Amino acid sequence: MLLQELLGISEDVYFVEESYLAQRTIERTLDYLNGVRRFAEAGKVRLLRVHEDEHTLGLLLFNSADEEVPVDFWSVFTGALAGASSKNDFEILVDPLLTFNPPEREVEVSSEIWRDAVNEYYSLMLVNRNLCPGCAVKPESYGSIFSENRVRRVAEIFDILQKKGIFPEGRLLEVCCGNGMSTLALYRLGLNPLAVEINKCTVCQGLEQGVLNPQRTVVMDATALSRYFEPGSFDGVMGFMLGLVYEFNKSFWVNIMKETVSVASEGALMLFTVSSRPEAEILAEALLRAGVKGEIVDNTDSEGTYDQWFFVGRKQKA
Ligand SMILES: C[S@@+](CC[C@H](N)C(=O)[O-])C[C@H]1O[C@@H](n2cnc3c(N)ncnc32)[C@H](O)[C@@H]1O
Repeated sequence: MLLQELLGISEDVYFVEESYLAQRTIERTLDYLNGVRRFAEAGKVRLLRVHEDEHTLGLLLFNSADEEVPVDFWSVFTGALAGASSKNDFEILVDPLLTFNPPEREVEVSSEIWRDAVNEYYSLMLVNRNLCPGCAVKPESYGSIFSENRVRRVAEIFDILQKKGIFPEGRLLEVCCGNGMSTLALYRLGLNPLAVEINKCTVCQGLEQGVLNPQRTVVMDATALSRYFEPGSFDGVMGFMLGLVYEFNKSFWVNIMKETVSVASEGALMLFTVSSRPEAEILAEALLRAGVKGEIVDNTDSEGTYDQWFFVGRKQKA
């Protein structure tokens, strides 16, 4: 696990927050840290500090094996993924605690790598069924789930884009990634998007098959992107085979389009594929209204199923 590698520890680790999404508000983290302060002031606890420059990204607290938990483990507290005010509260609580009770070791990492380590932890919790007690879903074979034709179909879109002088760069987000079939095409092109998907069983399948990168995959509702990412967080946002997008349900997809634009930087590449022209038109109109200029591209083939139409454009200056 990346987190254990970064810290050079072999014991188990457990984040205080039960989900990636809870890392945004860190209510439990702040509550527990208040409790830890009493022991820390007496200099009684073993701590590790993770930091980027002067900012504390994370704090690990050692727990010795006891009757209740028969193995040693570290509890992990982090404010790095939290909103600005919770992040500030985290540092206000942690910094004096570290003064009374200096950590036995400090590790400097970038906030990007720390975020990857946090993502990976929750991905492993998911795929090891720790987040879904009683899960009865049996793993399927790779061949019964993933289709090389589909992966190639996504890759071909990038050939078309390259001919137009377009290639995604920088910080990339893929929404509605499913089990990672489209993500696989991106990985093969050397891209490493943060992939988000609402259905945890689908994500679990992609992780289980070794397709989705556990450090770069998050179970998340794409209608709430702006709750978890700051404006301008991504230089490219993509989504493949969105839909079905109809008149009666279009407000849902329009909302996802608005959310993708809100977390995209100025000039960000926006790319979305669907199976029909009317669907592409609904997305294009929503994107245009949200400040994205681009075009609908006819990508129809004889099979007529996947990625038949796509919208490609760039977010304009506000
Ligand atoms: C047709 S699948 C496409 C999956 C993948 N992009 C591909 O091309 O193979 C659409 C995916 O969108 C996901 N989805 C639907 N609503 C979503 C939401 N609000 N947030 C994130 N993902 C969502 C579905 O669960 C489904 O996995």
